[in-house]
Amino acid sequence: MRNIVILISGSGSNMAAIVRVARGDDWAARWGARIVAVVSNRADAGGLRLAADEGIDTCVLDHRQYPTRDAFDEALAERIAAYDSVRCPALVVLAGFMRILTPGFVERHRGRLLNIHPSLLPAFPGLHTHQRALDAGCAVAGATVHEVTSELDQGPILAQAVVPVLPGDTAASLAARVLSQEHLLYPRAIAAWLEQRTAD
Ligand code: GRF
Repeated sequence: MRNIVILISGSGSNMAAIVRVARGDDWAARWGARIVAVVSNRADAGGLRLAADEGIDTCVLDHRQYPTRDAFDEALAERIAAYDSVRCPALVVLAGFMRILTPGFVERHRGRLLNIHPSLLPAFPGLHTHQRALDAGCAVAGATVHEVTSELDQGPILAQAVVPVLPGDTAASLAARVLSQEHLLYPRAIAAWLEQRTAD
């Protein structure tokens, strides 16, 4: 069984989309994969309620309760490791998880740590991606699913979705257009990752 742990900090709309597709497309039957836990670093993350309603384990690890970034990441890694199965370490999916992870955490989860970023990487790593795309006069914008490495937003690209930038767009209208594509892209990219691991 391949367990999937999703990390969130906010509304969790990507997490919800992944949960919906995993159920609808029966990832359990196809790849022996199931979403077992949603972990948030913020107690007020809206996605927590949604995950609990779906019968998924939820947990809050408040980063402010830890003296150092390393201590928080160690606690997070231990929590995730509780979901490793005997022959199969958990797949870790970052879905709006607003923390920079330490190199030690990234190394420990190498090859099974995925993120979605709201730009067409390698353009616009980091924050405020939509405003930066508008300021640069881009005709298109989009989102990228990538493997996480210790360089922020620079790991191998797994999948991308492109949307047009329309006249009169604001950062908010562009973010909404991109987000609606993220909800299609991320489940598809995870499914492809699982398919690939099953074929190996
Ligand atoms: C998404 O735009 C994602 O690309 C970014 O943070 C946002 C999270 O949204 N990393 P949600 O919490 O999934 O609704």
